[in-house]
Amino acid sequence: MPLLKANDESVRQAAAVLARGGLVAFPTETVYGLGADAYNPAALAKIFEVKKRPCFDPLIVHIAALETLEKIADFSLLNTTARKRLFELAENLWPGPLTIILPKQKTIPDLATSGLPTVAVRLPENKTARQLISLSSGAVAAPSANPFGFLSPTRAEHVQDMLGEKIEIILDGGPSQVGVESTVLDISGDQPRILRPGGVPKETIETFIGATAFDLTAASGITAPGQLKSHYAPRTPFSVYDKVSDMPNESDSALLFFDGASRDEWLSERNTTPLAAITAVLSETGNLLEAAANLFQTLHDLDKKGVRRIHGQFAPEGGLGVAINDRLRRAAYIDVISPKYFPRLKPE
Ligand code: TXA
Ligand code: MG
Repeated sequence: MPLLKANDESVRQAAAVLARGGLVAFPTETVYGLGADAYNPAALAKIFEVKKRPCFDPLIVHIAALETLEKIADFSLLNTTARKRLFELAENLWPGPLTIILPKQKTIPDLATSGLPTVAVRLPENKTARQLISLSSGAVAAPSANPFGFLSPTRAEHVQDMLGEKIEIILDGGPSQVGVESTVLDISGDQPRILRPGGVPKETIETFIGATAFDLTAASGITAPGQLKSHYAPRTPFSVYDKVSDMPNESDSALLFFDGASRDEWLSERNTTPLAAITAVLSETGNLLEAAANLFQTLHDLDKKGVRRIHGQFAPEGGLGVAINDRLRRAAYIDVISPKYFPRLKPE
């Protein structure tokens, strides 16, 4: 049954499912989330089970109002500078694709944070998401609604295809506008650190809180999915290239270009009909916003075409290009994904 157009009635139904400890998939501006009541450990356990996600990988708690934040995060453990940073970020970048790591309140179950003393919090922009959260306990834990390691869903149909029979309700709110996950920013320590590049570029964050550092390794001792090498991966083997001219011309492969100009360059260099079975472009005009919004949708599409391999092109580095390239890079690391979860995926 589970796919329902998002409206007042279906959102109420979905909130009722959350209240009795069930799972609901819902739209956000980044990607679709797989939600459970953040205060209910049994419901949280279902998320890990359905996604086949390792328990050492903490979840993001989604809120709908800033007033809820103090119930989730313990401000008393933040120094004055960190509090100032939090205020600036919340004021300017929430609601939106930014997740902030903060010291947690004791009421947040260990399963939500994988036993860490910190909690990830996000106030999403998407109206359906906020309606759902408001009608629930006010705190909805939600990872992206895909099996662990696989491409993130940017449409309700992606969730339906990947996890359909395991979720009580999938709220369909149309395509996700941003298309890449939120930026995960840790401000719990002295130096703000970006643990995962995402929908809010580093440069934007820095206009509000000054210098930040990327920390994309698992140096902090946790292994975040955004920090695992292989993640966001299609089932089809995927390679990604810096130079368009290196992208091969094979009849059984698909080509994924960043922009129309690169595709034209590739075509003119070869001066021949492309052998490639399919060519796709993330943004004809090379617009990073558009490219990010199309990224997962395009990879899902190409993944269904039955080609032997997908060859992709990196976006220009900088701004949202950092998040796009991070996802492309991780999609290309096929070797470490457990074949147990992806029986069709065989590294070459
Ligand atoms: O855009 C998004 O963030 C989407 C939508 C649904 O909101 N959610 C999402 O969740 O991408 P997920 O579970 O796929 O990624 C959550 C990221 C992971 O990299 C996780 O390790 C990190 O947030 N994270 C969560 N809690 C953390 C913590 N206490 N410390 C460090 N990283 C944390
Ligand atoms: Mg995810």
